[in-house]
Amino acid sequence: MPFAIEIHDLHKQYKGSWSPALDGLSLYVKKNQIVGLLGPNGAGKTTSINILCGLVEPDEGSAKIYGHNCGKDTLAIRGMTGVVPQQIALFANLTAWENFYYIGRLYGIDDKKIRERSNMLLERLGLDKHADKRIGRYSGGMKRRANIIASLLHEPRLLILDEPTAGVDVQSRAMILNFLKEYHSRGNTILYTSHLMEEAEQICDEVAIIDEGKFVVGGSPKELVSNTAGCRRLEDVFLHYTGHSVRD
Ligand SMILES: Nc1ncnc2c1ncn2[C@@H]1O[C@H](COP(=O)(O)OP(=O)(O)OP(=O)(O)O)[C@@H](O)[C@H]1O
Ligand SMILES: [Mg+2]
Repeated sequence: MPFAIEIHDLHKQYKGSWSPALDGLSLYVKKNQIVGLLGPNGAGKTTSINILCGLVEPDEGSAKIYGHNCGKDTLAIRGMTGVVPQQIALFANLTAWENFYYIGRLYGIDDKKIRERSNMLLERLGLDKHADKRIGRYSGGMKRRANIIASLLHEPRLLILDEPTAGVDVQSRAMILNFLKEYHSRGNTILYTSHLMEEAEQICDEVAIIDEGKFVVGGSPKELVSNTAGCRRLEDVFLHYTGHSVRD
């Protein structure tokens, strides 16, 4: 099976909405790749991620992670997948270390392993001197990095990140991107969303552009740029396919 993620013909319309969030979305992520899920505001990126991690149930279609059905084989998927949500999912009044200990225990990881993994990840993401500080006192960039650590305690082979670099400074962004590249180089798969085309161009093997709940175009950033007339950068390709109108 060459795919880590297989999304087939997903449909989702939230209650009370006039238009569907996903309108027949199909998307495939090969194993051991970094894939960027790109799209304007409201394109359906977070909805797709929420379906992959079983938080949202689709109206129609299927989503699989390493052949396991999302929303059904929850335990198996949870063991092999780390999810970094768009919002910071940590307790503000607990320290980083307390958060990781709590989350690690929820995953059934033993104390020694939680300590080892937390220390290694805190060091790699430049937070080792702040492990005993409360998350509420972290800067935005520190919170984003801590959010990533929380998703990796159980050593998943697939990491799904929803805008992991939103609102962070240049230094934090560079650290996060280097970390993701290194994690990928150890044979892991990454699906991540971003609004920064230059960033996606820099780290992704492939990108998938979606809009209004549908797949629009995909491929390696280089390939997309050279195959789309008049485009010099991924941002040109993105605008070529999604247009210039601002989304509500
Ligand atoms: N809980 C919800 N209830 C109703 N509508 C929702 C809900 N969540 C998302 N939507 C709508 O579904 C559509 C897709 O939203 P989604 O959050 O998946 O987009 P996105 O691509 O992640 O956007 P962004 O780049 O702004 O994060 C949007 O029109 C949004 O308003
Ligand atoms: Mg989103």
